[in-house]
Amino acid sequence: MPTKHIPVLLQETLEGLDLHPGDRVFEGTVGLGGHTEEILKRIGEKGIYIGVDQDSQALAQAEKRLKSYKVAKIFREENFRNLDRVLDETQTPLVDKILFDIGLSNLQLEESGRGFSFKRDEPLLMTFKTSPKGDDLTAKEIVNEWGKDSLADIIRGYGEDRFADRIANAIVAEREIKPIETTNELASIVTTALPPSLRHGRIHPATKTFQALRIAVNDELGALRQALAKGFERLAPRGRMAVVSFHSLEDRIVKNFFKDLATRGLGITTTKKPISPGEEELEKNPKSRSAKLRIIKKN
Ligand SMILES: C[S@@+](CC[C@H](N)C(=O)[O-])C[C@H]1O[C@@H](n2cnc3c(N)ncnc32)[C@H](O)[C@@H]1O
Repeated sequence: MPTKHIPVLLQETLEGLDLHPGDRVFEGTVGLGGHTEEILKRIGEKGIYIGVDQDSQALAQAEKRLKSYKVAKIFREENFRNLDRVLDETQTPLVDKILFDIGLSNLQLEESGRGFSFKRDEPLLMTFKTSPKGDDLTAKEIVNEWGKDSLADIIRGYGEDRFADRIANAIVAEREIKPIETTNELASIVTTALPPSLRHGRIHPATKTFQALRIAVNDELGALRQALAKGFERLAPRGRMAVVSFHSLEDRIVKNFFKDLATRGLGITTTKKPISPGEEELEKNPKSRSAKLRIIKKN
């Protein structure tokens, strides 16, 4: 049975993108194709769809499931920061709609075996890529090889964890005894680095460190910045770009980028405030809790 990923803010995203038959669409985060399917239905046989994801396993599942839709569609294993290259290679100078639903899919969190979750003991990879190559950065490399200050910087900067220095110290002390190889080892080092009163809260004490490592491994913020700029450039006049983000660091980047475009008279944000999941969605899919949707329309 293929893994299910419940698409987040689906109706809001589709409405906000204002999809029409014949639209040319670029999707940077195919994942398991939840948004893709609804996009394909709306753009119809005259539409053009180009979708990328770094995760070849997810992409293959989505492509197979959506095969029967009669839309000119291209799926590519690619980082969305290279959307210009993909559009060049597919002879698509401009598109009408762009979607980024960033972060992790359920497949990656629950079943990838790449160490995104501390709920299972897995090797510390955390790459969006299904099979990282020798020169791809992994979480194992960061925790075992980066200097203490760099570790503390990412845990503070990307995890927004006020105990970043304590955690970095504990990681460095532990790796001097033996290399840190798995998610359980790392989660337990982080937990014991925290003051005892904070070790048993509702949210796992290693959540922020895991988030920080994932962001660093995949250069998520750098990729987002690049993709937003390149995406807006390749958007046709009156085209729309929608971004669903899952934490404040990403949302801040999207917000500031859209604000700057609006100030320069290049676009209008159709979402003055970000759209968050309503009660019904939260009940069905508690993982959507932190999602925020922002949309800009090009002038
Ligand atoms: C939240 S999931 C998308 C789920 C999808 N909308 C659905 O409904 O099935 C995010 C996806 O984006 C991919 N991703 C994240 N950053 C990426 C990047 N820089 N380039 C390409 N894919 C990326 C991940 O591999 C993951 O599959």
